[in-house]
Amino acid sequence: MNLGLNIDHIATLREARKINDPDPLEAVFIAKNVGVDQITIHLREDRRHIHDSDVERIIQSSFLPINVECACDDGIVEFLCKQKPYKITLVPEKREEITTEGGLDINHSNLKNIIHEFQKNQIKAVVFIDPDKSITLASKELGVDGVEFHTGKYANLDLMLHSNLSRTKNTILAYDFDRKDLENKLKESLQEINDCASLATGLSLGVFAGHGLNYRNVGAIAKIHSISELNIGQSIIARSIFVGLQKAIEDMIKLIK
Ligand code: PXP
Repeated sequence: MNLGLNIDHIATLREARKINDPDPLEAVFIAKNVGVDQITIHLREDRRHIHDSDVERIIQSSFLPINVECACDDGIVEFLCKQKPYKITLVPEKREEITTEGGLDINHSNLKNIIHEFQKNQIKAVVFIDPDKSITLASKELGVDGVEFHTGKYANLDLMLHSNLSRTKNTILAYDFDRKDLENKLKESLQEINDCASLATGLSLGVFAGHGLNYRNVGAIAKIHSISELNIGQSIIARSIFVGLQKAIEDMIKLIK
């Protein structure tokens, strides 16, 4: 199983001071040397972390394939078709959200044209979707090269069950269940991801997953053989503050392998 390292939060730290330090490009070279398979960046509409100039510099300088996450925004699509990353992952985007909540609305009116536009420019097109069988089938109909399953629900249930989050002000109210219910829902959520990953493999789609994966919860997802790539950001970058980026990546790769 491959690891796509999401480096957005290195740019988040840079934006806290706006003095061009730390530079996300430096992470690309470290990542390559320790065995990361892909670099993932999210060009958000509000450019809160990754900027257009980062996309240009990273694509031009990286030996690793670049996966750019973006919303169905005409200006961004036009810009990315010129930059030609290896892969695009279309994600939903709300200005007020902290991170990408939920999968893409597969009925978005312009989605098929956008996918076609990227593919015409030799860019692989992937949609970030909830692990749901009908959405997986509908994605195939759109002509995508692959699907990335949103693991956020699984990760949040895991956090509520296995961390102290439920005792804090950051508790996730939607998952405020007793332990038995949380255990059952966590199992169901893992099964949904597993079933959808098998379905997508049977449809000859590339099968990827990500969001909220961390050193505690990644093991069960890594056991799903039909998933070929995990995109992980926040947990690795957070750990890197204390142990260094190289060690944080190595620790994650060990768990995935
Ligand atoms: N995959 C997609 C499509 C995402 O939008 C994100 C968050 O930007 C990730 C993976 C990585 O999520 P996390 O930072 O929680 O590991």
